[in-house]
Amino acid sequence: MGRGPALTRRGGSSGRTRYRLPVRISVIGCGYLGAVHAASMAKLGHDVVAVDVDPGKIERLAAGEAPFFEPGLPEILTEALGSGRIRFTTDMAEVAGAQVHFLAVGTPQGPTGAADLTYVDAAVTSLLPHLSAGEFVVGKSTVPVGTAARLAAQVSEAVPGATLVWNPEFLREGFAVQDTISPDRFVYGVPDGEDGERAVAALDEVYAEALAAGTPRLVVNLPTAELVKISANAFLATKISFINAMAEISEVAGADVTALADAIGHDARIGRKFLNAGLGFGGGCLPKDIRAFQARADELGVGESLAFLADVDAINLRRRDHVVELAQEVLGGAVAGRRVAVLGLAFKPNSDDVRDSPALDIAARLLGLGASVAAYDPEAVATARRVHPELDYVESVADALRDAELVLVLTEWEEFRRFDPAEAAALVANPVVVDGRNCLDRDAWTAAGFTYRGMGR
Ligand code: UGA
Repeated sequence: MGRGPALTRRGGSSGRTRYRLPVRISVIGCGYLGAVHAASMAKLGHDVVAVDVDPGKIERLAAGEAPFFEPGLPEILTEALGSGRIRFTTDMAEVAGAQVHFLAVGTPQGPTGAADLTYVDAAVTSLLPHLSAGEFVVGKSTVPVGTAARLAAQVSEAVPGATLVWNPEFLREGFAVQDTISPDRFVYGVPDGEDGERAVAALDEVYAEALAAGTPRLVVNLPTAELVKISANAFLATKISFINAMAEISEVAGADVTALADAIGHDARIGRKFLNAGLGFGGGCLPKDIRAFQARADELGVGESLAFLADVDAINLRRRDHVVELAQEVLGGAVAGRRVAVLGLAFKPNSDDVRDSPALDIAARLLGLGASVAAYDPEAVATARRVHPELDYVESVADALRDAELVLVLTEWEEFRRFDPAEAAALVANPVVVDGRNCLDRDAWTAAGFTYRGMGR
């Protein structure tokens, strides 16, 4: 790797933080996590080589093209390529000489619900021949507790003097660049003793800018770091399912779950964030993480401790059933042969990710029940088409609404929130809207002549 001049800076108002740029970094895996991490590290001034086994992905990244929609990524990628601080390759040998090797490969759900560690294991095995003493392997992927200790032993046995640590990632899709460059906190899971101290110093250099700005940094042992990540996601999933359970109660009791969330959210101990009732959570993290966490707790003989996560999962999946049932109800019992406009396919706004997307699942189920579905999403049509080519994809909100007998808003994109309900009323055949994310202005849509059905209100 290129060795840039080591420059020493003073950072922070205290003037005590000393750090050197650039750190020579490798990032293994160029998916949502790795591509953003690699580009962000180059943006911070480090010297980065990023590796992936997928030549198509590497070719696009090397050409400055983000392989998925993530606000801000194209800009930092172009900047990093222009500065010469980043290279993309399929050749693992090119990571040789990096001081810090980040593992950023996926840990998808396996057939039993447990995490599939194939990619993590393959990444470590193929890294080992190119690793040298004094270098650090830094896991960022979400793994079952105990994985890091196993990999740490593998690394130090194969390359004495090399150290594996765990530094989980908490980025949210849609805010991934911001969350990587200035996260809420850093968590370093390191071994005891000198190796651990050297690892902390190395990561402090990597993250010097954010640390100088005061970002909290917690140094813990390996299992704690692994658990911090998965328990944070389990907590977030539980918070969402809690409010969705309240939505179920509100629906039968005649209450409004949005007002309820506002009211309980004023209690600082509860907080309003992640209390938006709707279709529930999806994506590549929360659903598979709660299942993997449960599976791991079972393996460790403490399955009962996480038994509640089965309910969290069940409440979440019931939201999708509820919307399908509501669609049938508002259309007089059946959706077969009826024109349904589906607005939103991504699992959340500002993303083209349709992994475990509640919106796409509902669209596909309505099609399965015989509805004629016109589906639109500002960014996720191409990704949705790969999974469900049989849906009728349209190119605008207006195209979806035209002649619709029912409108379903399933992802809370700004474009849908802002759409003029009067214009919508003029386009549809039947003014009924199901607001699956409670994101529309109910009064404005009602005033425009729509029958409005929200979630839990
Ligand atoms: C999640 C976590 O929020 C990140 O901290 C974590 O780093 C990441 O997983 C990961 O493990 O990599 P992400 O999957 O990008 O991030 O999405 P979230 O913003 O957490 O949203 C997840 C789902 O919950 C979405 O489908 C969203 O619509 C839903 N949600 C969120 C609700 O239904 N209600 C809410 O109030 C909030």
